[in-house]
Amino acid sequence: MTQKTEYLDATESGIERAIKRAGDVLRSGGLVAFPTETVYGLGADAGNDAAVAQIFEAKARPQFNPLIVHVASLEAAQALADFPDAALRLAQAFWPGPLTLVVPMKPGAPLSKLVSAGLPTVGLRVPDAPLAQALFEAAGCPVAAPSANPSGKISPTQAAHVAQGLDGRIDAILDGGACGVGVESTIVGFDGETPVLLRPGGLPAEALEAAIGAPLRLGGSSPDAPSSPGQLESHYAPGAPVRLNAQEKRAGEVLLGFGAVEGADLNLSPAGDLLEAAANLFAMLHELDGAEAEAIAVSPIPETGLGRAINDRLRRAAAPRG
Ligand code: TXA
Ligand code: MG
Repeated sequence: MTQKTEYLDATESGIERAIKRAGDVLRSGGLVAFPTETVYGLGADAGNDAAVAQIFEAKARPQFNPLIVHVASLEAAQALADFPDAALRLAQAFWPGPLTLVVPMKPGAPLSKLVSAGLPTVGLRVPDAPLAQALFEAAGCPVAAPSANPSGKISPTQAAHVAQGLDGRIDAILDGGACGVGVESTIVGFDGETPVLLRPGGLPAEALEAAIGAPLRLGGSSPDAPSSPGQLESHYAPGAPVRLNAQEKRAGEVLLGFGAVEGADLNLSPAGDLLEAAANLFAMLHELDGAEAEAIAVSPIPETGLGRAINDRLRRAAAPRG
């Protein structure tokens, strides 16, 4: 499938025109990449089977993993799913924001079966990104969107990354500049009223635990716990192999540093700030991948706050390729 990908600039002037055009493309069944606070999403009308199927084709996704459905408000989300009290409290505390809630779909919800991959639940999110919200309003439909990268590759945090991976395979790219958070949303499911962490992400688990008032259960720990079937082992992979917890740079390597390390080619955060590191993660992996080194070595990252999401993504980038 080759086509002309329309570039819609919403970084300076002409923002309203760009949003209206992107909304029209979505409504007519097309694919539009758009920025959220986490990463760029590849959006389609979540109620349109053919449009949702095209997402999988454009990304060359090997399986029909369920997709996150994006809406502009909690009210719009409640039209699609039944929220346990615990889910409602988390939505009220953290939406709009980098949190996806996996909740029971309402019978007859106007969503393509492909969106939930046949599961009785749906992953819902209200992004903290005015441009994305304006796009959903303009489209007038819930928007299914995985990250806007070819399957298994590094997630995009800039419009240029999207173009690198998907130019000629999608209808339009809405450019809203760089994403502020830089790693995908945290995903929480529910076992009855008990929240279960399905994927660490842009909302630190500590913030969720403070709101819940208890430690978060981790997904997969009980056979009954909901699972996130899209969790492939190797993922977010640059072309070059990745070496984690590197104390030094070896011959032929480029070094992605964190904190006060010497000789780093790029540094996620010289000051050791995990927020800054998350925002830089995918852009710097993209850049070092372009350097065509034998391997990308990465300094150790602390396993707290956003560090958990960063390490999760790095472990997948380093995982044996299938
Ligand atoms: O920040 C994000 O979450 C980005 C932006 C675009 O919103 N989206 C994103 O989507 O990361 P994606 O497709 O790369 O990851 C979606 C994850 C998958 O691991 C999938 O298994 C899980 O969400 N998921 C979605 N619906 C689910 C459901 N009903 N049950 C279990 N897991 C679900
Ligand atoms: Mg992804």
